[in-house]
Amino acid sequence: MIRNNYDTILILDFNSHYSQRIARRIRALNVYSKIVDPNISVAEIKKEAPQGIILVGGSHSIRDIGAERPKGGIYKMGIPIFGIGYGLQLIADAQGGEVAPSFEKTGGQSTLTIEDPHSSLLKGVNSHSKVWLPEGDLIHSLGDNFKRVGSTPACPYAVVENSKEGLYGTQFSIGSSQTEEGDKILSNFLFNICHCEANWNMEAFIDDKIEEIKAIVGRKQVLCGLSGGVDSSVVATLIHRAIGDQLVCVFVNNGLLRKGEPDLVLEVFRDNFNIRLQYADAENLFLSHLKGVSDPEEKRKIIGRLFIEVFEKEARAVGDIAFLAQGTLYTDVLESLSSDKSVRIKSHHNTGGLPEDLKFTLLEPLKELFKDEVRILGKTLGLPDEIVYRHPFPGPGLAVRCVGEVTKERLDTLREIDAIYIEELREGGLYGEIWQALACLLPVKSVGVRDGKRSYEEVCSLRAVLSEDAVTADWYHFPPEILQRISSRICKEVPRVNRVLYDITGKPPGTIEWE
Ligand code: XMP
Repeated sequence: MIRNNYDTILILDFNSHYSQRIARRIRALNVYSKIVDPNISVAEIKKEAPQGIILVGGSHSIRDIGAERPKGGIYKMGIPIFGIGYGLQLIADAQGGEVAPSFEKTGGQSTLTIEDPHSSLLKGVNSHSKVWLPEGDLIHSLGDNFKRVGSTPACPYAVVENSKEGLYGTQFSIGSSQTEEGDKILSNFLFNICHCEANWNMEAFIDDKIEEIKAIVGRKQVLCGLSGGVDSSVVATLIHRAIGDQLVCVFVNNGLLRKGEPDLVLEVFRDNFNIRLQYADAENLFLSHLKGVSDPEEKRKIIGRLFIEVFEKEARAVGDIAFLAQGTLYTDVLESLSSDKSVRIKSHHNTGGLPEDLKFTLLEPLKELFKDEVRILGKTLGLPDEIVYRHPFPGPGLAVRCVGEVTKERLDTLREIDAIYIEELREGGLYGEIWQALACLLPVKSVGVRDGKRSYEEVCSLRAVLSEDAVTADWYHFPPEILQRISSRICKEVPRVNRVLYDITGKPPGTIEWE
């Protein structure tokens, strides 16, 4: 294993939705954090050589049968441990304390009282600040060497410390925005207790990754499918920095891209970054196979299969490739670790599915990063804002936004609509505020009036959503005058369209894409 050159905090995640938030907050304080399986062995922890360990748990009780516990040896490693909620109850239980149901209702917002002004965890924390307590068990007594340093009216052991054995904790949530001083407490743990250096930043990450990529790849060649999306663009640029012309990118123009997209990709990667780029013009191939197909899943299957076919042909043309680069992110890694596998509603495609005889080792240099960190990395590597801050775009492209049959003519119409929509969002300063905006062409026609005469033309629907992770989404509340402007520009400038609708469906029940 290649070691990082920066301090690390390990987060043992006992199934809490706060663990990702805590991980991001730690990174925002310039310390690297990593979420790991709570059953991690002492030997594995030693390999990671963390400065500190955090135990974060969910809403269940440590008294439940089969409740997960860390390996007992972690308390003897001499590494400071911070337990949050369930995590602190685990510590208390392992060290001779008593954890039992509370006598009164504890859950909800409460007020902190600092009991010990010399506490290292509460240094600089405002007395009487608000904290968020989960429902459930409470600590009723603690083993020797523990000090009670903070309390709330219903929770006497709200913050505890055992500096002798390096054990610390809060009963209240730290990742919750309703705990006002969460960041301060976290920062005290990192810097006063674990003595971390704030040495995690994008420059350090880039230096580290470049060394790592060079060491892994050696003199061999790496292939990267470039889509023009943020993740593949950042992966390609980072790997190119490390190994230059040993990287070959393949860009497949499937004819389902936005207006100007192929030119932008060629300009940025081939002309500006001098990346070896194979451009596969497969528009006719895709459109001929999509002819007469209206079923969404059928479209996705055809596009996925053809993509693999074209990509494979390009890969074989390059010859001698040892690695396939992919823009896997940390959230993908965490999702595959999680037992809670959510149902896949639509078949998403990627380059998995390549034939067996094309044997590549995967190279996934972004797999420690959250999406917002990938954008910072992209900026640091010099990618233009147009790529770094672009909205997500589905692999099957405009085919799943051309509801009904996909023809060149309908795609061109949709490209014009989309270009006006996105241009107006950028000019109105709304593009960055919206998580994803998209236009669909619907499989109906409507009667209207154009140039004083009856028209019978296409209908489009606009959608804009706010989301954090695409799992749920709210529709975006536009100022009406912006919608009006977009609508009149579309009807005026795009021939064959005489009606514009705005989609006000959340996810659920809708999905973000229409197909
Ligand atoms: P849905 O429509 O399922 O979309 O709510 C959630 C997010 O995923 C994007 N999406 C895709 N991305 N390949 C992709 O890379 C796909 O096949 C695909 N289908 C949907 C969608 O744009 C949204 O951001």
